[in-house]
Amino acid sequence: MTASVNPSPFLGAAKGEMGDRVPVWFMRQAGRSLPEYRALREGTAMLDSCRQPEMVTEITLQPVRRHGVDAAIFYSDIMVPLMAIGIDLDIVSGVGPVVAHPIRTTRDVEALRPLTPDDVGYVTEAVRALVAELGETPLIGFTGAPFTLASYLVEGGPSKNYARTKALMVGQPELWDELCRRLAVISAAFLRVQVDAGARAVQLFDSWAGALSVSDYRRHVLPHSAAVLAELTDVPRIHFGVGTGELLADMASITDVIGVDWRIELAEASRRVGGTHPVQGNIDPALLGAPWEVLADRVRDVIRSGAAAPGHIVNLGHGVPPDTDPTVLTRIVELVHTEGAQLRAEALA
Ligand code: CP3
Repeated sequence: MTASVNPSPFLGAAKGEMGDRVPVWFMRQAGRSLPEYRALREGTAMLDSCRQPEMVTEITLQPVRRHGVDAAIFYSDIMVPLMAIGIDLDIVSGVGPVVAHPIRTTRDVEALRPLTPDDVGYVTEAVRALVAELGETPLIGFTGAPFTLASYLVEGGPSKNYARTKALMVGQPELWDELCRRLAVISAAFLRVQVDAGARAVQLFDSWAGALSVSDYRRHVLPHSAAVLAELTDVPRIHFGVGTGELLADMASITDVIGVDWRIELAEASRRVGGTHPVQGNIDPALLGAPWEVLADRVRDVIRSGAAAPGHIVNLGHGVPPDTDPTVLTRIVELVHTEGAQLRAEALA
């Protein structure tokens, strides 16, 4: 062992320090693609499961044990902090988050109060238990970014074009800013609880920000995401959204690691942010069902392309689809671990 070997390849890569192992984890690794998850969740509603520390701990550990990934992601949901401050919502299987009373007026916005650690004691308890079990494997804490959370609150559920959200954003910019300021406070507090309990990195999901033009993103969204991430400078911060190719430079300006979906190559993503940031991504999740040799070559291409960036954390370009054969994920981890460092070295030569 040399002094430069980082005990966590994931944390090393997040700082742009690549050792002899390229790290890999998967968004939505804890969840429906695992039969052991489905068995444990049987009869328990999604949001109820998030409030049971023992269940949260077990579900978070399942993919770490099974696949040997380099990081655990906390089993929870972006809607949990909103539930915790009393918003009436549910997560409907096959649909997504559904909000009983969508937020559209000043009075609705004023009902959004700050989150305190006491609101989510079950999160503190679960993170502490997990950190004890995980040893050297880091736990990633996460939260939803103000825009993505606002989209669910304003639309009342999942949306294709975010018409009501955008109408509020451009039609009542002051109310929009107040809504997002409040959401930023809640999101930052939710991350702080996870980090204070032992999470060693955080990911801010602005999953649906790719629906915005660059100018609307800059004016109405970026400052609020920046406010969340500015509160968490003591751990590596990953910022991710789907379809954000045009937003990457702006997103990079407020974070440490940039998450990239499958639509643009990692080398191009790295170029767009000025070559300064480690990247995370970006295997197309829709290819997980392709013949193994074809998929394996795509994984190799992702690693070669990621070599353009100062650090690379292999991941999918979005979450694991529920119908994924989990043995494919295990094979990807094995491939990344056995071939990753060599592929990166060759790409750099
Ligand atoms: O493994 C992990 O990634 C950790 C757990 C996690 C969940 N949700 C658990 C979950 C994480 C990180 C999230 C984040 C999340 N939740 C995001 C951002 C990530 C992304 O996908 O872009 C978003 C947009 C949500 C909101 C949400 N929650 C959606 C769209 C859905 C899917 C609805 C469906 O059934 O198709 C959920 C439900 C959800 N969150 C499940 C899990 C394991 C499935 C619930 C079930 O098993 O019934």
